[in-house]
Amino acid sequence: MSKNHRKEVDRRRTFGIISHPDAGKTTLTEKLLLFGGAIQMAGAVKARKAARHATSDWMSMEQERGISVTSSVMKFNYNDYEVNLLDTPGHQDFSEDTYRVLTAVDSALMVIDNAKGVETQTRKLMEVCRMRNTPIMTFINKLDREGLEPLDILADIEETLQVECAPLSWPIGMGKRFKGTYNLYRKRLSLFTPGQETRPQDAVVIDDLSDPRLDELLGSQADELREDIELLEGAANPFDPEHYLKGNQTPVFFGSAINNFGVEEMLEAFVEQAPAPRPAQTLTREVSPYEDPFSGFVFKIQANMDPAHRDRIAFLRVCSGTFKRGMKVKHHRIGKDVTLANATIFMAQDRTNVEEAFPGDIIGIHNHGTIKIGDTFSDKEALKFTGIPSFAPEHFRRVRLKNPLKTKQLEKGLKQLAEEGAVQLFRPLINTDYILGAVGVLQFDVIMSRLQTEYGVDALYEGIDYATARWVECDDDKKFEEFEKKNQANLAKDSEGGLAFLASSEWRLGHTIEQWPEIVFHKTREHN
Ligand code: G4P
Repeated sequence: MSKNHRKEVDRRRTFGIISHPDAGKTTLTEKLLLFGGAIQMAGAVKARKAARHATSDWMSMEQERGISVTSSVMKFNYNDYEVNLLDTPGHQDFSEDTYRVLTAVDSALMVIDNAKGVETQTRKLMEVCRMRNTPIMTFINKLDREGLEPLDILADIEETLQVECAPLSWPIGMGKRFKGTYNLYRKRLSLFTPGQETRPQDAVVIDDLSDPRLDELLGSQADELREDIELLEGAANPFDPEHYLKGNQTPVFFGSAINNFGVEEMLEAFVEQAPAPRPAQTLTREVSPYEDPFSGFVFKIQANMDPAHRDRIAFLRVCSGTFKRGMKVKHHRIGKDVTLANATIFMAQDRTNVEEAFPGDIIGIHNHGTIKIGDTFSDKEALKFTGIPSFAPEHFRRVRLKNPLKTKQLEKGLKQLAEEGAVQLFRPLINTDYILGAVGVLQFDVIMSRLQTEYGVDALYEGIDYATARWVECDDDKKFEEFEKKNQANLAKDSEGGLAFLASSEWRLGHTIEQWPEIVFHKTREHN
């Protein structure tokens, strides 16, 4: 490994944002990109959100696919770090992709609305982070508005998400009384002026809170801050980088994204503390980012601009070595050598000059449906990365064909769409129905539209009484047989032959789990 390769790995930060709709992810993303000088990108993020708001109609979504491909990976430089921010789709386009993007990041940033505390989508995304012990930094947003007491928000995070909080900044008032934040880490006071950006260098250094300058600057709120900090010293956890890197502690910042207040303060700490690309697990061994041979895995597939050509872009995360445009690599699942000439390397500014990508970077590979989620590409050793699973769907539909002569096309379409992770396909043990499962409901519209345009299949949906699914397994063959017999009506095979239990409610699932202690119920399933 060359010195340059090590340097390139160490200065990369690849992360995603977890938040509930409206907490301020788009606003924060834009500010982060502006700090990194990625001005055009910032515009695209806003445009994408505007398009999404206008309609959830799939055809209009197609028109903005160009934007969504470029804003899937947002790359910027900050203080000599190369930051890759991977988009975690939310709102109407919340889907399994949102979960899967989190399998390709080294850390996450959690955005919380100070008036709402922890909300459902954040909780779900946090579960995915927990599977991989992903380190999480927290930004509590909208301090320019009234909200919950800061200590109550921290308690909510600790209780709901089972992660220790370590505040690195502390707010002084909120809403109309919001005066700024005190950075506990650097002992600096940043004063807030609505509508005006504050840079970390504008902050006032106050080592000793009894300094009378504090009273001059904050008036009666100086004593409130002193009391808060005294309280925190006794009650809050001190920041422990090791705890953070293990995913057991989240450093917390307070601010207001729309006013660009507290954002750079957090970004500064983020690039310093967040992990560089971490080793990745394969079926046979752990792959270090510092290894010379190239390797990477596909975590997302997106239908591209021209649906008639079944043109796809597969997003691959580089795990080791250096990717060079035009290099020959092995596509392991199908055992073929491919030349990746037609690959998009996502880059910060100048799109034409960069020819290489390093661990932590994402490249987009153009293909016509040959690539599946979880596929591994490498230049030598046969590897299969793990930890890029399917996630239990929460919405279900039965597909009914309008023209029965199109069964073959329907099967082909559903198989391919399932392979690219757009939807999950289940075939019940007791009949020949096609049951689709998805994490977000918009996927169903997308699938119907794509079945029609790409496969010429006219079909419709029927509702079906399932609310959740688990993949099942058992060491004891006899017990498993008995379970299958008794639960036939609720069992189905997924597109890779995995057996799943489909339940009409969480309660029904819980009841079945209790009844069958020997059966293991999995919320995720690895791809073959
Ligand atoms: P999202 O991507 O997480 O869904 O959130 P987004 O950034 O779009 O923010 C949601 C709403 O919250 C937006 O208002 C945005 O302006 C507002 N917002 C974001 N950060 C702050 C903040 O620090 N303080 C306050 N007071 N509001 C904030 P909107 O009215 O829905 O949209 P828009 O008309 O402003 O675009």
